[in-house]
Amino acid sequence: MLKDNEKVSNKTAYLILDGTTYELPVMVGSEKEHAIDIRNLRKETGHITYDPGYGNTGSCASAITYVNGEQGALHYRGYPIEEIAQNGSFIETAWLLIFGRLPNYEERQRFRDLLTDNELLHEDLKHHFEGFPSNGHPMAILSAVVNAMGCYDPELLEIQTRQEFALAAAKVISKVRTIAAWAYRKSQGLPFMYPDPERSYCQNFLHMMFSEPYRLYDPAPEEVRALSLFFTLHADHEQNCSCSTVRMVQSTQANLFASVSAGICALWGRLHGGANSAVIDMLEEIRSGQEDIKGFLEKVKRKETRLMGFGHRVYKSFDPRARILQKAAHDLLKAKGIKDDLLDIAMELSEEAQSDEYFTSRSLYPNVDFYSGIILRALNIPVNMYPVMFAIGRMPGWIAHWYEAYGAGLEKIHRPRQIYVGETRRSYTKMGDRKDG
Ligand code: CMC
Repeated sequence: MLKDNEKVSNKTAYLILDGTTYELPVMVGSEKEHAIDIRNLRKETGHITYDPGYGNTGSCASAITYVNGEQGALHYRGYPIEEIAQNGSFIETAWLLIFGRLPNYEERQRFRDLLTDNELLHEDLKHHFEGFPSNGHPMAILSAVVNAMGCYDPELLEIQTRQEFALAAAKVISKVRTIAAWAYRKSQGLPFMYPDPERSYCQNFLHMMFSEPYRLYDPAPEEVRALSLFFTLHADHEQNCSCSTVRMVQSTQANLFASVSAGICALWGRLHGGANSAVIDMLEEIRSGQEDIKGFLEKVKRKETRLMGFGHRVYKSFDPRARILQKAAHDLLKAKGIKDDLLDIAMELSEEAQSDEYFTSRSLYPNVDFYSGIILRALNIPVNMYPVMFAIGRMPGWIAHWYEAYGAGLEKIHRPRQIYVGETRRSYTKMGDRKDG
């Protein structure tokens, strides 16, 4: 049975298997993407599809974000990312992603107030930080404390109304910033700074990161703008690994806190949200002279390592976020009057790769993580916090997807199948009868 957001096209796919022809309906999306609907395939044919890594699998119909990898296009709720980056703020973008349209003035103000009202952590939650070693990775702390948040709002574990959802969403978006900043403070042995209700979302984050008692940190407007842009560009990217994780966990009817905490874990790896810090490690390695650019690219081509911040499952041309971040990195450095050798190395590395057949033939171009670290460095964010910064930015997207799946009603639990390739049935061997090896 089709759901409300599923549309059948006038095409039909035919599958001929063992001499029998099966008709498969073809679904069409609003941007004319097509998908062969195989929901009844196993029931009708006894076969499943095989798609490790899910490169050809549509796991849901979603109205949140559109990516066209061939054209390098990214739209949030229909709006091109370039227009959002130019005109919007992170908070407005969060509202857009979650609630489906741009907020009017009152709606945006109410959302800002809700975030401010929910920026404090429960004082008991503060004690959780004491349990982590000072060198504990901030991503581990973030996922653990975000999940623990649910213990302090048990009524939000079973969301019933839109108001309850809006409250839970605001709590997560607001507090994730406090938790992230405190994870950093803990690693530095610095006292926790409480959020300041007079400050905007991004100002407040930088305040909690860098203010000291009696010496408050006042970021420059260009720093606040750059951070808002960074978060905005990370706010959603449809069914990537972490978003799919959030939807998968949600499909068990798990609560919002647990679902987004799982998303943080999925984001951590260096092929996903951990790529931004891996890019900086790579650029530092080149700067230190351990490897020159040509030598490094040869190593990549021998497949001894990867060019971090390059390549994408969906984009087969320039990632539009990389283009915007490249310019933003230049603008921020200029505004702050600083020079960063790593940006020069990144530019040279990117140009060299883009004129090399190995990379062009595989459609490998800079992705969102290639230049983002340069911005974070200019904001004095330590490298191990980079995936955490990604997670703060991605929170509205994860929440929007959680709500979309939740709103779809009792969605089917996500449960892929497999092709079993292990031993066939055999009888249990008693201990004394087992041979070595
Ligand atoms: N450097 C060198 N070779 C690469 C790279 C890379 N960054 N990415 C892909 N390739 C090669 C790969 O070796 C393979 O070559 P061959 O056909 O000879 O075997 C071909 O390109 C296809 O690669 P793939 O691994 O099948 O592609 P994928 O779609 O599974 O992987 C990716 C996508 C993002 C994991 C990959 O491009 C990668 O590892 N990039 C580096 C890590 C990175 O920057 N991640 C951030 C992704 S964007 C933001 C996010 O999702 O967090």
